Amino acid sequence: MLNSSIKYDYGFMAADKVGKFGFKKAELLKLASQLKLFNQKLKQEKDKPELSFRKLPYDKKNLKQVLKLAKKIQGRFDNLVVVGIGGSDLGARAIYQALTGSFASLLPKKWRVMKIYFCGNTTDPQPLADLLKVIDLRKTIFYVVSKSGETVEPLSCFLFLRKKVISKVGYKKHQEHFIVTTELKDNSLLEIAKKEGYKILPHFTGSGRFSILSVNSLLPAACAGLDIRQLLAGAKVMDGLSKSNNYQNNLPFLFAALQYLAYKNRKQNISVIMPYAYSLRDFAFWARQHLGESLNKKYNLAKKIVNIGISYIAALGPTDQHSQIQLYIEGPNNKIITFIKVERLFFDLKIPEYRNSEIAYLGRHKFSKILNIEQRATAVSLMKNKRPNGTIILPILDEYYLGQLFFFFELATLYLGKFLQVNVFDQPGVEQSKRYMYGLLGKKGYEKYKNEINKF
Ligand code: PA5
Repeated sequence: MLNSSIKYDYGFMAADKVGKFGFKKAELLKLASQLKLFNQKLKQEKDKPELSFRKLPYDKKNLKQVLKLAKKIQGRFDNLVVVGIGGSDLGARAIYQALTGSFASLLPKKWRVMKIYFCGNTTDPQPLADLLKVIDLRKTIFYVVSKSGETVEPLSCFLFLRKKVISKVGYKKHQEHFIVTTELKDNSLLEIAKKEGYKILPHFTGSGRFSILSVNSLLPAACAGLDIRQLLAGAKVMDGLSKSNNYQNNLPFLFAALQYLAYKNRKQNISVIMPYAYSLRDFAFWARQHLGESLNKKYNLAKKIVNIGISYIAALGPTDQHSQIQLYIEGPNNKIITFIKVERLFFDLKIPEYRNSEIAYLGRHKFSKILNIEQRATAVSLMKNKRPNGTIILPILDEYYLGQLFFFFELATLYLGKFLQVNVFDQPGVEQSKRYMYGLLGKKGYEKYKNEINKF
């Protein structure tokens, strides 16, 4: 099994299947001729701080530290709560859901190592109130993650939770309930963490969206008892594939090239990521943020206004087969769909037979078979209606293939950035609303944004 990789079936993206809505081989070959140059550039840029995410799978020191810390945490606490938003939240969530299932936090102790909760991605107080109903604060550690150390949502939640912990365990003991990951640059979270004596695990030098294989997600995953070594091993396999200058072997490049061709040559500027695996629902949200926030930009690298990008949509099969598929099949032909399919589910169930009924046919099947039949039926229906679609195939859903899948999308984003000529690591649009919020909330230094927003 080792070194085997996920597959990417893009047959239904081609013109011979979907006519003028699909790509022609000559177009793909033309783009493929740029691959060598892209890889050369990426090699030259490899020591840039933003590209340090590519080194994460090889960081043995970090791995050792995370494993050691996770063991210590497991020995002392029952729950870990991730307090973060965006890139500081979605990755850890996606890993946890993918590998522990949707109801992990409800399982009795014999079924799990630690329960992981996520709270910090909203200023709606409801999740906080709900969380306090289900956790024992004395047995809970909070992992506060914010690269900038200034973000309103996680920091508000952190302040609230800190007070609750202090009132439960006392000020002296509260510090052992908090671990912080932030940049080692002047920021509010770092200042508080130092003052209060919280353990600080520095944020890696790259962007939050590319932090999936850093301590941000590895620590919660390791605490949950997941095999983070295999996550990294999978990522290494995908990194290896992306070093290839043969476009057919370089899956992230191939995916990026097809997305770009659809956007550039056929105005298909909506791209749907649709796993047919319930456990990958949060993965689709991670991918949506990762691709969407990285690739949609006002300015290109030459600082020209371009307002460029592809709109990414997260969908879930078969649930959305009874919702979104209607618009994907019959709405404007401006979308491309990427399914993610798991060939063999770890856990399967057989449907009991009910003879002499119209639904007797269901009794012959396992759920996994029906799931994959549904995906195939949807892919073919789309193709018959000239709707381009591709399928990423995982042999099984485990740490190793999930690590590949994450790195597949991270590397595809890099290549798409090269095609679109945008900086994939910044998010000026997100920053702008953050500044207005700071202004309205009375943060020092942001008065001018308050005045600006109040004009409207
Ligand atoms: O991907 C990103 O960079 C953003 O989504 C950030 O992760 C998000 O805004 C949270 O920022 P921070 O980690 O600084 O709190």
